[in-house]
Amino acid sequence: MLEFSSSLLAASDKGVAEAAKTLQHGGLVAFPTETVYGLGADATNGRAVARVFEAKGRPSFNPLIVHVPDIEAALGIGAFGPAAERFAHAFWPGALTLVVPLLPKTGLSDLVTAGLPSVGLRVPDHPLALQLLQEAGRPIAAPSANPSGRISPTTPVHVLDGLEGRIDAVLDGGACPVGLESTILGVDGDRVRLLRPGGVPLEALEACLGREIPAALLDDGIEAPGQLASHYAPIATVRLNAEAAREGEVLLGFGAHKGTLSLSASGDLIEAAANLYAHLRTLDALGQPIAVAPVPETGLGRAINDRLRRAAAPKPQA
Ligand code: TXA
Ligand code: MG
Repeated sequence: MLEFSSSLLAASDKGVAEAAKTLQHGGLVAFPTETVYGLGADATNGRAVARVFEAKGRPSFNPLIVHVPDIEAALGIGAFGPAAERFAHAFWPGALTLVVPLLPKTGLSDLVTAGLPSVGLRVPDHPLALQLLQEAGRPIAAPSANPSGRISPTTPVHVLDGLEGRIDAVLDGGACPVGLESTILGVDGDRVRLLRPGGVPLEALEACLGREIPAALLDDGIEAPGQLASHYAPIATVRLNAEAAREGEVLLGFGAHKGTLSLSASGDLIEAAANLYAHLRTLDALGQPIAVAPVPETGLGRAINDRLRRAAAPKPQA
């Protein structure tokens, strides 16, 4: 039995106004970004943030990304050195999250940062998200709008599939254009680390910084749940780098490897990223093991392969 039903709000001024009001009153609203749908809550309201963890069934030690409408708002929450400012000016609005030292007295709930001395900040590149953030008039904490560990949502239908009855509303922005979560960089002074590959290719970030960006080691003391072995996981088992489907499998194709569905028949990594989660869901619904054709490890391929490896990892026993 559902506790209540979640309303679908139209992509109009009225829909955004309703969504903003719901957030201001401590409600949970899923909203579109260019990457995936986020499950938004007022980041200054501890009870609202606690409801996000409850709705997702997420372990509460995972910090949430704080979404703001512009760089100025971000500068009021995090400490930006020259490197972080450079990234913000080059890539915001966009699919980049910067984890920077948290300033004192920001009003953010401790639950958002999981008590860490750092905060993840992002200005999303989506007109509805930006309008909503402006109207809400406060920072909005938003993880991807899926039950913890499952495939991230790139349409309102995906959101309701996982969270119907557990959230107040979904703002309907149709399909998300990028289709993969943001790239996460940890930036503390001139120390820069890749915490999660995502929608902005590492190559573009390294070109901006003028040097290589190492991946964060597990003992760095900061960890993104995107680093959990099993994450973004379908129900079916997933086999990677498959040249062809074996008996009983469905194949997720790429380029010359044709499948039941293809990430991109022309081998375009941008198209593949946009299709990844929706295609995994469609194939998962067929109830057969999923084989996935090889995807090159360059540009967005790095993030696609990262998500595929986690989708294929052994799942923890329920
Ligand atoms: O594209 C995206 O990033 C989407 C949209 C909605 O913006 N959001 C998203 O959020 O993917 P989520 O919660 O599924 O992943 C956020 C990641 C987590 O791995 C979390 O650990 C990391 O960001 N994170 C947030 N704040 C952090 C911090 N202070 N230190 C280290 N990692 C942090
Ligand atoms: Mg997520």
